[in-house]
Amino acid sequence: MTSRIACPTLAARVTTAEQAATHIRPGMTVGMSGFTGAGYPKQVPQALAARIGAAHERGERFGIRMLTGASTAPELDGVLARTGGIDFRLPYQSDPELRERINRGEIDYMDIHLGHVAQYARSGFFGRIDVAVVEVTAILPDGRLVPSTSVGNNATWLELADTVILEVNAEQPAGLEGMHDIHSCAAPPHRAPLPLVEPGQRIGEATLRVDPARVVAVVETRGPDRLSPFAPPDETSRRIAGHLVEFFRHEVARGRLPTNLLPLQSGVGNIANAVLDGLREGGFEQMTAYTEVIQDAMLGLVRDGLITIASATALSLSPDGVADFVKHIDAYRHRIVLRPQEISNHAELIRRLGCIALNGMVEADIYGNVNSTHVAGTRIINGIGGSGDFARNGHLACFLTPSTAKGGAISAIVPMVSHVDHTEHDVSVVVTEQGLADLRGLSPRQRAHAIIEHCAHPDFRPMLQDYVDRAWVHSKALHTPHLLPEALSWHQRFLDTGSMRA
Ligand code: COA
Repeated sequence: MTSRIACPTLAARVTTAEQAATHIRPGMTVGMSGFTGAGYPKQVPQALAARIGAAHERGERFGIRMLTGASTAPELDGVLARTGGIDFRLPYQSDPELRERINRGEIDYMDIHLGHVAQYARSGFFGRIDVAVVEVTAILPDGRLVPSTSVGNNATWLELADTVILEVNAEQPAGLEGMHDIHSCAAPPHRAPLPLVEPGQRIGEATLRVDPARVVAVVETRGPDRLSPFAPPDETSRRIAGHLVEFFRHEVARGRLPTNLLPLQSGVGNIANAVLDGLREGGFEQMTAYTEVIQDAMLGLVRDGLITIASATALSLSPDGVADFVKHIDAYRHRIVLRPQEISNHAELIRRLGCIALNGMVEADIYGNVNSTHVAGTRIINGIGGSGDFARNGHLACFLTPSTAKGGAISAIVPMVSHVDHTEHDVSVVVTEQGLADLRGLSPRQRAHAIIEHCAHPDFRPMLQDYVDRAWVHSKALHTPHLLPEALSWHQRFLDTGSMRA
């Protein structure tokens, strides 16, 4: 029995990853841990991929339906996608191998709000969950589980799955114990109000529970999370942050935001990370965060005391970020709470706390509809993640992007988005390095003026202005004027020529 597995019953189930993987059979639905490259199982998926590969070589069909918290890593999504072992996958993903196969039509992928997954699973919308494979930090003497660097949907998989495989990762810091707050929601109509009124409040237990009788294998592992470095803040992200700082100061001056703002949600990716870092310039203090992912910039704000408490469901750190986290874990434990994604992304709580949602996007159209996921309407990048949970329910929904992509060939402001993740009704503010469009209280035509004037790149502004000028005259109706044959012509031009420029 190792020091990380203190429960004799579960210590007796310790086995190899290869043996554990034999519990996963073709056609099964498997709930895996993992959220934004943190806390995913490191060995069983690789053993499963070998098993699937061997079956394929024998000419046998072997695919699984795989549900996770969010994106994982090459050792999970990558290796299973490469072997052709994933028939169906949800929710958010970001692995290049998996993304390619989804876009080749080989894997069915369901992009779904992260806050919906647990409820839908519990309601049986995804069918039976056959197996849960969950990474934990340690197993306590009474069988309770110390969660890892992400919580995600783990409580739900452990509750619903017929059989459970645990990976106990000795690389994850033991000091994580006490940082989590696990609370499960009942299914409607038995659901009660969530008694959380401040980001740092704890409403559940610090550990996960599992019925030991359903645990068929425990695998000891030692390995780091995905740990991708972030792009350093550049001039573009500094300018986006600068516009936001000015906007927040204005809102504070008008009495529409308190001086420490409202709980921040910051999305995934380089832009969101760099922009959060740029908020330092605002001089705001005593801020809080109610978000889903803690990236390096947010950890830095917590370390420096500018954010007093951060609630999330996962860490998503660079190697430097992890080193800092581990070094100061005793201090972070009092300032970070990791919760199930059902709670971190819960509509009731986001609405009550009044989160300020700051998310990256692919493109916005002149009316403020936002595409967060698809290039030219058909090629998925990652997925909607939690951006919709926070945009729909937050106090302010801010979407951020450089005004152009691919070296200036693509305008991030287009006549009509080629895919809609967030409708105009859920978008309050659009920000590019060019400026900020405050869309609150504006009609569609007013929104178009604000977005073109403040957010579009000067190279594309005349083309957008020309589009609206003609649409204002020729559109059949003038509430939301469009020239339908032209509305998506920018994307078609990009596909045909590699550029949206006329
Ligand atoms: N057209 C085509 N490609 C575009 C584009 C556009 N309008 N805008 C961005 N891209 C591409 C970039 O070129 C880049 O591609 P590359 O990796 O091949 O260079 C990629 O998208 C990422 O863009 P980047 O500018 O580096 O921004 P990012 O890392 O901040 O990511 C999103 C931006 C939209 C992909 C990211 O924010 C995302 O996945 N959002 C959806 C999920 C979400 O919001 N979650 C929040 C809560 S978890």
